[in-house]
Amino acid sequence: MNKFKSFLVNLCRTLLAITFIFSGFVKSIDPLGTQYKIGDYLEALNLAGKVPEWIQLITSIGLSAIEFTLGVLILLAIQRRLVSKLTVFFMVCMTAVTLWLTIGNPIQDCGCFGDAIRLSNSMTFGKNVVLLTASIVVMKWPLYQVRFISKTNQWIATYFTIVFIVVASVLSLYHLPIFDFRPYFIGQNIKKGMEIPKDAKPTVYKNTFICVKDGVQKEFDEKNFPYDDSTWVFIDSKQEIVEQGYEPPIHDFSITNEETGEDLTEAILTKKNYTFLLISPFFEVAEDGNFGEIDYIYEYAKEHGYDFYGLSASTDYGVKHWRDVTGAEYPIYTTDGTTLKTVIRSNPGLLLLYQGTIINKWSHNDLPTAEELNAPLNLLSIGHEPEDSTWSKIFAIVLCYILPLILLIVADRIWAWTQWVKKREQWLKEKEQWLVKKEQSNKLYQLLKRKRQMRKKIVAGNWKMNETLQEGIALATEINDALKADKPNCDVVICTPFIHLASVANVLDKELVGLGAENCADKEKGAYTGEVSAAMVKSTGAEYVILGHSERRQYYGETAEILKEKVQLALANGLKVIFCCGESLEEREANKQNEVVKAELEGSVFNLSAEEWKNIILAYEPIWAIGTGKTATSDQAEEMLAYIRSIVADKFGKEIAAETSILYGGSCNAKNADELFSKPNIDGGLIGGASLKAADFKAIIDAWKK
Ligand code: 13P
Repeated sequence: MNKFKSFLVNLCRTLLAITFIFSGFVKSIDPLGTQYKIGDYLEALNLAGKVPEWIQLITSIGLSAIEFTLGVLILLAIQRRLVSKLTVFFMVCMTAVTLWLTIGNPIQDCGCFGDAIRLSNSMTFGKNVVLLTASIVVMKWPLYQVRFISKTNQWIATYFTIVFIVVASVLSLYHLPIFDFRPYFIGQNIKKGMEIPKDAKPTVYKNTFICVKDGVQKEFDEKNFPYDDSTWVFIDSKQEIVEQGYEPPIHDFSITNEETGEDLTEAILTKKNYTFLLISPFFEVAEDGNFGEIDYIYEYAKEHGYDFYGLSASTDYGVKHWRDVTGAEYPIYTTDGTTLKTVIRSNPGLLLLYQGTIINKWSHNDLPTAEELNAPLNLLSIGHEPEDSTWSKIFAIVLCYILPLILLIVADRIWAWTQWVKKREQWLKEKEQWLVKKEQSNKLYQLLKRKRQMRKKIVAGNWKMNETLQEGIALATEINDALKADKPNCDVVICTPFIHLASVANVLDKELVGLGAENCADKEKGAYTGEVSAAMVKSTGAEYVILGHSERRQYYGETAEILKEKVQLALANGLKVIFCCGESLEEREANKQNEVVKAELEGSVFNLSAEEWKNIILAYEPIWAIGTGKTATSDQAEEMLAYIRSIVADKFGKEIAAETSILYGGSCNAKNADELFSKPNIDGGLIGGASLKAADFKAIIDAWKK
């Protein structure tokens, strides 16, 4: 279907392009002819004389140039959407005009193709209906038009076309139309052009005679005309064409001497010698700047025995005005104005006849000069019919317009191709770079994955100050049993109050669940009533201790210095430290979280050796998320844990940072654990409330299995 659409659109577009280019061109090279046609339309609209001639001329040049340019734009598929809409608009207007011509017949020839092709009004209308349909097809699918020139360079073709056609128009106006499609071309014998072949079909006319008798008017034809009844008085007659017969190319040429009423056509057209005819449809509006040259040619004609006549449809006043202004002495005879406009597109223009054949034609801007007229005409080249120059004119157009346009298109295609090659090279380069990057990031990802696999994944419970001894033993037993039944794939730790430690140690399978304290003293041993030392913790069977919890910092005034001591003692006694850090709500709101966390780590654990660091687990617990039900989002948590890992890397190196387990704590529960644990820097959780129910705690542990 798409192939068919493309075929149809390109067929319609070719038809439109050829028609527009041809009709635009033939009108452009005959701007005066097109102006006369515009005059005919104005007359049919009763606007004759209301629009100045110069406006008609500019309209003629403009309209023809638009039509030609539109044709070229369609041909090259430039501005496809806009041009297709303009074409439809143009065709709608033209079809409406030709419909009016077909119905009302106000003008015989629409002038669509200038004088090159003449169509009857109904044929023109039919042609426009076809073209309108074609333009609608193109407008419906404008992008199916195959481009010949890239978007970047199409403006060159557009402006070049406009300049070409306007220059061709102006040159045709200044000189004469480049191609002469009228019956008065060079080489035409006017008399022969008027001949009707013997076997030609004659035009059949119907004559009607109007007579009156006793005040009664009646129409008669040849058959019933009252030849014998003289009481009928003839008053008028009319003639209608019943059937159009052969019409010779020249059918309206005659020369009359107005003063004598004598028809001089035959006499002038059969002259044995050269005859100059100065043609001016109307002397009133003729260009009179070249009268010197005209007078010289007249004198030259007299001297060599050639006839020189003026032909015009001017009024006596117009002729007198011309004689007064130019001093013209040559005889001026009368010929129909429209005929004279057809004979030569120049006012005035000069025609040279030899025995009734047109030998040469000149615009008033190109009249032969005294230097050229230096001998009798038969000895001069201008006295002989020039060689047919049609091919040299076509060659000139090819050289000035078609060839540069083709070269432009070829250059554009080469340019587009090099652009494509460049883009492709660039694309291949980018693809290669992308593959390298992908490879690198793959490697990095694998490395991080390996490291992450090396890091311990931990879920640790912090019972805080909850559970009696019996309750604690029962909870620990339940957790232990659940994990025995369904083995975890991460490290599990429960941190209990001091009083539970020894008893809970007895119920836990060490391989499955690690045990930890929630605190230890900052003194080694001695008279510190109520305190429990790291050594004592270790002696219960516990392996971990939570230090730096925000609740201890907040409620028991544990400073960075105290914590530093505790950490040292815990490590010295073989305990692993789960070291907590985290900012308050005000600190986060002030965007100080990084600086607070860094200070906490620097104050208590960054003094450790790399060896000691191996027994440190970090836990980021934003104070605003602890026990509030307000979890940090997984992105917030990930961002902070990545930051913590980066400062650990700065302190201990990337390798150690990659091996450090960092947990998140703060309203972590069975629902959000999956999401939190999916982040690359979150190695597990430090769980408060949710660690007090075996099922909830187990569900968080199981999040690592997903
Ligand atoms: P919650 O999980 O109850 O918010 O407590 C977190 C905590 O403080 C763990 O140490």
